[in-house]
Amino acid sequence: MIRSTLAPVLAGLLLACGPSEPYGGPGEIPFDPQRPTPGTPGEVTPYTGTHPIVLEAQTRLPTGLELQRKLVLRTCGPTNGVCHNQKEFPDLHTTGTFAAAINLPCNLQPGSYISVYDRCERLGDRFTFSDHDNSKELELGWFEVVVGAYVEYEDDQTPPSDAAGLHLHFKDVVLLEQGRAHWGTGTFIRNFVNDQGNVEALAFASYNTRWWVLDDGKHLFGEVRDYQRESVDALLAVGIIQGDQNRNGIFGAREGKTVPMINPGKPEESYLVARLRGHMQGEAVPGTRMPLANQPPSVTDMLALMCFIEGLDPAAQEWNLSASIDYNACSYIADPEALNLVGAGVKWGERVWPILQSSCGGCHGGANPQAGLDLLSADTWTRLQGNSSQNLDLKLIDPGRPEKSYLWLKLAGDGSIFGSRMPLDPLGSGSRSLPQDQLDSIQTWILAGAFND
Ligand code: HEC
Repeated sequence: MIRSTLAPVLAGLLLACGPSEPYGGPGEIPFDPQRPTPGTPGEVTPYTGTHPIVLEAQTRLPTGLELQRKLVLRTCGPTNGVCHNQKEFPDLHTTGTFAAAINLPCNLQPGSYISVYDRCERLGDRFTFSDHDNSKELELGWFEVVVGAYVEYEDDQTPPSDAAGLHLHFKDVVLLEQGRAHWGTGTFIRNFVNDQGNVEALAFASYNTRWWVLDDGKHLFGEVRDYQRESVDALLAVGIIQGDQNRNGIFGAREGKTVPMINPGKPEESYLVARLRGHMQGEAVPGTRMPLANQPPSVTDMLALMCFIEGLDPAAQEWNLSASIDYNACSYIADPEALNLVGAGVKWGERVWPILQSSCGGCHGGANPQAGLDLLSADTWTRLQGNSSQNLDLKLIDPGRPEKSYLWLKLAGDGSIFGSRMPLDPLGSGSRSLPQDQLDSIQTWILAGAFND
């Protein structure tokens, strides 16, 4: 399998830094015409409603810059390697590369063709035989170089479908006779926009060999003799665009539904959002759900991301990440809970508290609860919003952040806890784990905001 080698050049953001020498006096900053325009929070009318999630988002994630720093980098986590970084695509590590993801094609560097989403497929390059009468242009679906020892086939023989050599698969049938070889130069054509802004078809690569039409007629096999290997390598190095990159018969761009990584003004049609959700407009998106090994974004994070994308002007060429996110005008503030990635329905009163009562109440209840933590009395939910007595830096429950919720860390048996994993089990091995489905419920409840409902 050959991957497209089109390496996108992602623009870096230059943060202008002031000179280090002292100015006229303390607090005095000289006028500098090169200074970047700061954010323009004044242009946006702040949200003044009462929805706690919207208010939290507006406070914690007021701008695209904060969103990149707090959501994108946090979900990337400290564990480099499970995250998008310089080595992986898309690189969202800096605010500059995050901004560059706006309108950028998606799936430029998929790990495997299977994980390509139809709506990321671009218009395929066209192929034609420049030295045949029949010069019909065919759109390339996908291609493959089958590696193996060269086998010579007679002109009137038909090589097998998996013969070593170059295999091209087209949208339409190749109009050459099957069952025999054809000598010819195959030329690849792509549309470019020239200096004048006009679209120009350009032949950008070609390969001369013996060809056979195989199978259903849309499959073209090109012979690769040892001396031709370099030409094939050169051909691949130019980065041929495949219209049906995932090889499922659907040519995404032709269906007219191609989406970019971040679609300004259209969060529902942004690949980044689809990868977090696992689906786009009701259709499953291939590939593992992001973020791979870290906590999924909370409802507040999602609200910020959706409102940020919705507020991007599709007509703009450049976007200012330091501008305020316009929560007030954002359509998602009507029902932020609908953005919950981990599923709704896990409630404190119906599910979470009963788990704590039945599994923990024996020790954490009564007149003298263990570790001073009472999980049975009526004000339990309020108490959980306070700090842990074992780790004073952490709350027992930090809404939206299981990784900062000490009660959760005790349940998960996190390496950072003092004492034992909960629930303690004096009769067994010392401590045990709650069943996975109960752990999932508690984690979901925290992620969704740990509401008292
Ligand atoms: C058999 C008794 C026992 C059971 C059952 C038990 N705990 Fe504990 N718990 C303790 C003891 C003893 C400590 C203090 C020592 C330690 O942390 O290992 C403690 C400490 C804690 C702390 C730390 C309190 C703080 O303020 O930092 C938390 C949180 C906690 N337990 C949660 C739970 C939860 C949730 C459950 C139920 C899933 C549970 N425990 C079940 C005995 C128990």
